[in-house]
Amino acid sequence: MSKQPADVPTPKQKFSVYFYNWTTYIGVLIAIFFFIVELLMFAFEFFSHGQNLYLGILTYAILPVFLIIGLLLIPVGALLKRRAVLKGKSASKPGPIRIDPSVPSHRNAIFVFILGTGILLIMTAIGTYKAYQYTESVAFCGLMCHDVMKPEHTTYINSPHARVKCVECHIGEGAEWYVRAKISGIRQVYHTIKGDYSRPIATPVHNLRPAEETCERCHWPGKSYTSVEMNKTYFTAYDSEHPSWLLRMLVHVGGTPEKGSGIHKHMYIDNDIYFAAEDERLQEVTWVKSVDKDGKETVYTSEDSKWKDTPPPAEVIHKMDCMDCHNRPTHRYPYPSRLLNQAMASNEIDPELPGIKSKAMELLSKEYTSETEALETIDTELTTHYREELGDNFATREPQVKKAVASVQKMFQNSMFPEMKARWDAYPDNIGHLVAPGCFRCHDGEHTSSDGAVITKDCTVCHSIIEQGPPDNLERDTRGLGFTHPFEDDGLWEDMSCTDCHTGN
Ligand code: HEC
Ligand code: HEC
Ligand code: HEC
Ligand code: HEC
Ligand code: HEC
Ligand code: HEC
Repeated sequence: MSKQPADVPTPKQKFSVYFYNWTTYIGVLIAIFFFIVELLMFAFEFFSHGQNLYLGILTYAILPVFLIIGLLLIPVGALLKRRAVLKGKSASKPGPIRIDPSVPSHRNAIFVFILGTGILLIMTAIGTYKAYQYTESVAFCGLMCHDVMKPEHTTYINSPHARVKCVECHIGEGAEWYVRAKISGIRQVYHTIKGDYSRPIATPVHNLRPAEETCERCHWPGKSYTSVEMNKTYFTAYDSEHPSWLLRMLVHVGGTPEKGSGIHKHMYIDNDIYFAAEDERLQEVTWVKSVDKDGKETVYTSEDSKWKDTPPPAEVIHKMDCMDCHNRPTHRYPYPSRLLNQAMASNEIDPELPGIKSKAMELLSKEYTSETEALETIDTELTTHYREELGDNFATREPQVKKAVASVQKMFQNSMFPEMKARWDAYPDNIGHLVAPGCFRCHDGEHTSSDGAVITKDCTVCHSIIEQGPPDNLERDTRGLGFTHPFEDDGLWEDMSCTDCHTGN
């Protein structure tokens, strides 16, 4: 019986003999297996609306690699076999690879190739798009490095921007920033795995895209907001004569040129403002330049500025934009006093519990090593405190104490992050001036120009107080009132900075 030459297919073989080898078989098995798994995952992922983080990573990053390895093994096996066969027939020179559609085995191979490539191309297209979408999702940004991003993700989901994706502020549109972000992302993943990232994450964020290309895609800077009303209820932490104090004011946001005034106007419509700070966090602003519509420049410096005589180098000068005031549009870390005022005003914490504000402020601002430790301490200390404080009355007030414990614990979880050292004093909010310098970085009445102009500290320029005082004795005037300092008015606030006394705890 004559032996069949190795490169001629037997009548049963539908493909070139080169495809009949173990490497190719394994490749086919792997490819089919992962193809089916991938199809199921696609369907599953599709119906779960991309909410599952690990499913996404599996479907779009890990499984495709195995599928491609399987597919690659098919031709690799065939090429290896071809080499082996040709080596055996050492006499004949290896001929060129022939493709002849009139040969049935070639036709079959061409058919499988076209079908396979077609399916693969479609899957790649969908996969690439889904992978792109996926790396742009909130789940990916916020939960991927779960512990690292916990403060940002938690504050974000409780903020007015909870429905705006991380990437809309952090990356914006266009391929260039996408690629930049992914490159810096790789570096971040490396540091996350090594665990040597800084705690807290340093701000200001250096590679944040300018506001024109992010915030201003949704917010039109010329929009007039006229005045925004603010209603505050304060509770004393000491034994003030008044347990609570109300303040109602109109913050003059303004905006359009026709309206002629307002906070937003001063940096977009009338002037371009540039500034330089002497610290990394841009809190000690000692040099300010305002350029008006006619190009006239006014430079303001503070008394001890190191740039009093020579302007700062170009790389430390910032042009003021939305984020120099709204640096916390979404990651807000409120300070203990504000959190408690809100909870007490809404009766979530009973304001009648004696000394609740000072005790809770102390517990919220203590430095802990972990959230678990904090939550336990809050529970045990508040309960013990009221057991002693209330004595025989404890039993009747216990429900209020329990409610207060739960409320303070919730505040802690939403605003203080001991593992990342992220809280209000690590991330100063630049809107306002009570516990962080904010507007008073420039508007402290001490930034002056060479011809004697001063950046104003006039209390009525940015807002008008229309109601203030203890609830039973309110002072009201819609034309605006002079400020009365809550609880005790000794006039010290006029000559000092609010931040000299107010630290948030
Ligand atoms: C509305 C816009 C906006 C959205 C949405 C947003 N961020 Fe931010 N984020 C900012 C701004 C502005 C800063 C810069 C603060 C600064 O430089 O002082 C910032 C800062 C950060 C920082 C630095 C640390 C800090 O707390 O300031 C991290 C990390 C961060 N964001 C992650 C995220 C993640 C993760 C998401 C989505 C879950 C997200 N951001 C969504 C605007 C946004
Ligand atoms: C994708 C659109 C989008 C982007 C980008 C965006 N915002 Fe917003 N922003 C909104 C929407 C929508 C609201 C209104 C939310 C509401 O009132 O419920 C809002 C609300 C606000 C508010 C009012 C918050 C409050 O307390 O009521 C401020 C301030 C603000 N944005 C600033 C910014 C800044 C600064 C940036 C850039 C870092 C930015 N936004 C980027 C959509 C966006
Ligand atoms: C000079 C500081 C400053 C700058 C710069 C600034 N804002 Fe504001 N903005 C304020 C203040 C103050 C308020 C009043 C509300 C508050 O205190 O939170 C406000 C309010 C807003 C509001 C909410 C209005 C409302 O109804 O509650 C939006 C939205 C807003 N700003 C968007 C922007 C955008 C977008 C930019 C950049 C184009 C910008 N702001 C630049 C100080 C500023
Ligand atoms: C980096 C410095 C800087 C910061 C920070 C800053 N401003 Fe200003 N602001 C200026 C300068 C400079 C002027 C005066 C512009 C000029 O030359 O007329 C000004 C003017 C104003 C005016 C107009 C004053 C008038 O007399 O009509 C308002 C209102 C205002 N700022 C509000 C704010 C608010 C609110 C904040 C904080 C959220 C703030 N500014 C933060 C630099 C700053
Ligand atoms: C350059 C603008 C500006 C000037 C000048 C200014 N403020 Fe304010 N002030 C603000 C802004 C903006 C807020 C709102 C902060 C917020 O959104 O919580 C604020 C908030 C306040 C609050 C409420 C604080 C809180 O968070 O509960 C008081 C009280 C107050 N200002 C008093 C004063 C007094 C008194 C003066 C004069 C010494 C003054 N302000 C000068 C911009 C200014
Ligand atoms: C000399 C120190 C000092 C200075 C300066 C000062 N305050 Fe106060 N402030 C206090 C004290 C003390 C209380 C009372 C706290 C209490 O009873 O719980 C208080 C309470 C307040 C409260 C109620 C706070 C709350 O959370 O319950 C507000 C609002 C306030 N001050 C605004 C201001 C503003 C605005 C400035 C700057 C213009 C300022 N203060 C400057 C010492 C000061």
